[in-house]
Amino acid sequence: MAIGSLVILLFFPSWFLSVQTREELKSCDFPAIFNFGDSNSDTGCTAAAFYPEILPYGQTFFHEAVGRASDGRLIIDFIAEYLGFPYLSAYINSIGTSYRHGANFAAGSSTIRRQNRTYFDGGSPFTLEIQTEQLNQFKARTGKFFNRAERNSFTRNFPKPEDFAKAIYTFDIGQNDIAAAISNGMGMEDSQPVISDIVDYFANQVQNVYELGGRTLWIHNTGPIGCLPVAMPAHNANKQTPVAAGYLDQNGCVQYQNDMAKDFNKKLKKLVVKLRAQFPEASIIYVDMFSAKYELISNANKEGFVDPSEICCGYHEDGNNVNCGNKGMVNGKEIYAGSCEDPSKYISWDGVHYTEAANHWIANRILNGSFSDPPLPIQYSCPLQ
Ligand SMILES: *[C@@H]1O[C@H](CO)[C@@H](O)[C@H](O)[C@H]1NC(C)=O
Ligand SMILES: *[C@@H]1O[C@H](CO)[C@@H](O)[C@H](O)[C@H]1NC(C)=O
Repeated sequence: MAIGSLVILLFFPSWFLSVQTREELKSCDFPAIFNFGDSNSDTGCTAAAFYPEILPYGQTFFHEAVGRASDGRLIIDFIAEYLGFPYLSAYINSIGTSYRHGANFAAGSSTIRRQNRTYFDGGSPFTLEIQTEQLNQFKARTGKFFNRAERNSFTRNFPKPEDFAKAIYTFDIGQNDIAAAISNGMGMEDSQPVISDIVDYFANQVQNVYELGGRTLWIHNTGPIGCLPVAMPAHNANKQTPVAAGYLDQNGCVQYQNDMAKDFNKKLKKLVVKLRAQFPEASIIYVDMFSAKYELISNANKEGFVDPSEICCGYHEDGNNVNCGNKGMVNGKEIYAGSCEDPSKYISWDGVHYTEAANHWIANRILNGSFSDPPLPIQYSCPLQ
């Protein structure tokens, strides 16, 4: 061995070594995915618990509404595909589901902290705390069947008890906590203690997942909430143009709202560093979803999309709001807010959620680790054996 490589081995920081060593290893071979989140990764929870979406939701890929807030697949679907799994079933969806390769606890409108709103006021009872409690029950109850050696038609649809330690646990939540602070009238200054509190709650739930055996934790930060078209003055009657200087950034996104998301992300990243020290046996990956989404929004035209403020499905103009797939009155006339001609040209599906085309673009960027810390492709993100 040349002296040069010896020096490299001795003096390069350990994370560099792990990345290098890992390339010689085979991929993690995750047996399952367990996902926690909100509508950005809900694959059927809210639809099973409450009212399902209707077409044109789902039209592009599934050709029917399948409990996803998009015209097609979500980022979690592309993650499942990439790792060679079937699409994840929602934990509470009792019809025709298999949990052999994991379960999805994500639910639309979910928050990290409890909200004072019910489903009917736009809230969700499936907070992150409830989602991790569902994992707890799922693990305990499936484990019972294996212990009783009832390895029959039941257990065929369950992960094995040993799969929980080898699975990948993905998180994508926090956007609705920030949305709640915004709708409570908070700004960048007064939201800071609230955001610190939200991140503390998140820490407790990551700890719960670790205690339930989770060792690979893949954590998405939150996206640029101020770039959602419904936040933009053109679609938001509360913020008519002209707006104050500095209210919008160069992409037409609401600056202070993105700053709140960045504050959350900064605190989340600090937490990840702390958790790595606390749980050296775990591999905790921080994925900069904000930058991936913002890169798409900044380069929309170059990447073949229309202006990022455009909404494919739904009518949100001049103070009139008709949600995607619904009928409503606008200036005394009934309109149907259907889909645009070609959703693959749009970043925003319904003003809040991304199209399948945008989700695919983003998934392609995050799966190979180019937005991750440490920069590992997802299939190498487990702890070194
Ligand atoms: C919910 O309401 C209680 C009591 O009014 C308040 O203390 C708490 O901060 C509220 N929670 C949120 C998330 O707004
Ligand atoms: C990851 O994939 C994207 C999209 O294909 C590509 O632009 C980027 O260079 C890749 N990054 C790495 C680190 O492989």
